[in-house]
Amino acid sequence: MQIGIVGLGYVGLPLSLQFARSGVTVLGLDIDPAKIDAIAKGASYIKHIESSAIAAEVSAMRFSASTDFRRVKELDAVIICVPTPLNKNREPDISFILRTGEAIAPHIKRGTLVVLESTTYPGTTDEDLRQVLEKGSGLKAGSDFHLAFSPEREDPGNPNSKVASIPKVVGGYTPTCLEKAKALYGKAIKSVIPVSSCRAAEATKLLENIFRGVNIALVNELKVVYAAMDIDIWEVINAAKTKPFGFMPFYPGPGLGGHCIPIDPFYLTWKAREFGQNTRFIELAGEINTAMPNYVVNRLAEALNAKRKAVNGSRILLLGLAYKANVDDMRESPTYVLMDLLKKRGAEVAYYDPHIPIITPTREHAEWTGTKSVAWNKDSIKNFDAVLIATAHEAVNYQELADWCACIVDTRNVMRGVKVSEGQVWPA
Ligand SMILES: NC(=O)c1ccc[n+]([C@@H]2O[C@H](COP(=O)([O-])OP(=O)(O)OC[C@H]3O[C@@H](n4cnc5c(N)ncnc54)[C@H](O)[C@@H]3O)[C@@H](O)[C@H]2O)c1
Repeated sequence: MQIGIVGLGYVGLPLSLQFARSGVTVLGLDIDPAKIDAIAKGASYIKHIESSAIAAEVSAMRFSASTDFRRVKELDAVIICVPTPLNKNREPDISFILRTGEAIAPHIKRGTLVVLESTTYPGTTDEDLRQVLEKGSGLKAGSDFHLAFSPEREDPGNPNSKVASIPKVVGGYTPTCLEKAKALYGKAIKSVIPVSSCRAAEATKLLENIFRGVNIALVNELKVVYAAMDIDIWEVINAAKTKPFGFMPFYPGPGLGGHCIPIDPFYLTWKAREFGQNTRFIELAGEINTAMPNYVVNRLAEALNAKRKAVNGSRILLLGLAYKANVDDMRESPTYVLMDLLKKRGAEVAYYDPHIPIITPTREHAEWTGTKSVAWNKDSIKNFDAVLIATAHEAVNYQELADWCACIVDTRNVMRGVKVSEGQVWPA
């Protein structure tokens, strides 16, 4: 069996490797020639994926990559893992999916299975993608080719999270489509969970991410409320999580980040309007989470004020550009929002991130492109009026930070247990 995986990013690359390791021949397809070159050389471009893992599958001839979509005609199945961002009006942008559909449609043959993995609103697979595929191929979904949706469940930065052992939800356009998709994933994934339709599978992924977004908003709100009462939210969560049932810990932070939680819930909000439905929890959670960077900047202003300093003119170091600890993924990182807010208030802003030496181009934060992480040594760090911890990277020596910087604002509770002086650390 030879399969294709379109979109070799954070989702597509590990999935390709898992199929290849399971003995399936995988052709990776991407429009980015740099990724294709890297794979051919057995070189990784994602921090938590070892080059040796790619090299092993490439040299075993189980994994190769190309930009040539005509090669879809060689494949029995195609899995699509392309981005699904929001546009500048915060509406779903499924153009990457549709363009992929247009690119593969002329080359799919009778019996090909097409599976969408990109997170999206219910109806994308069996309406939008189906129409593009049928138009471009002249074939009918369900009878001539098979169509399914299976959401990705990645936990970036979690070393115990292995693609093979994460149960995979699958929904098919028809019962036969479902059977084909189950058989495909069964080759590489231990547990496949069938649901009744592509829409149910799409909705499952949205529920999972909305659940996180709403719960993070809840602890963010409680953080602010408890801080006013002089109660430490981290202590409270750590105590609450000793309850062996009915509680699951979520942690506050400087705002949402990453490619999923800040974005995916709004795919549902948009689609729900078509059905005259409101998504109030999603909107409220969005409002609370979006307010976090402002709260944090205000706390920083208080911390500086206590030292008779103003934000305006102060040198502020943001510690952590990645949206999540121990990863090099800076998409939608709240650190950008914090840097923008501080710059607007007249601060001189820099960042340190052991995993991101330089800011590569992004659509939303172009003005920071090319900015380099400062060096981690006493001479460089002691020059900052304050350090704002936005990401809890384990590679950072927080005791050194405490030794070098007199004013630290901590949004991640990483300074707990570090020897500090009175008034040096401000939780935020
Ligand atoms: N990153 C995660 O942790 C995660 C988790 C679950 C779900 N998802 C979802 O999976 C999807 C992919 O996310 P990702 O994080 O892997 O994105 P990514 O940006 O890391 O990778 C996407 C890849 O698709 C390629 N691409 C873009 N347009 C293309 C096209 N027309 N044809 C072929 N390739 C194209 C890009 O070059 C890139 O290599 C998104 O819908 C996302 O919401 C991501």
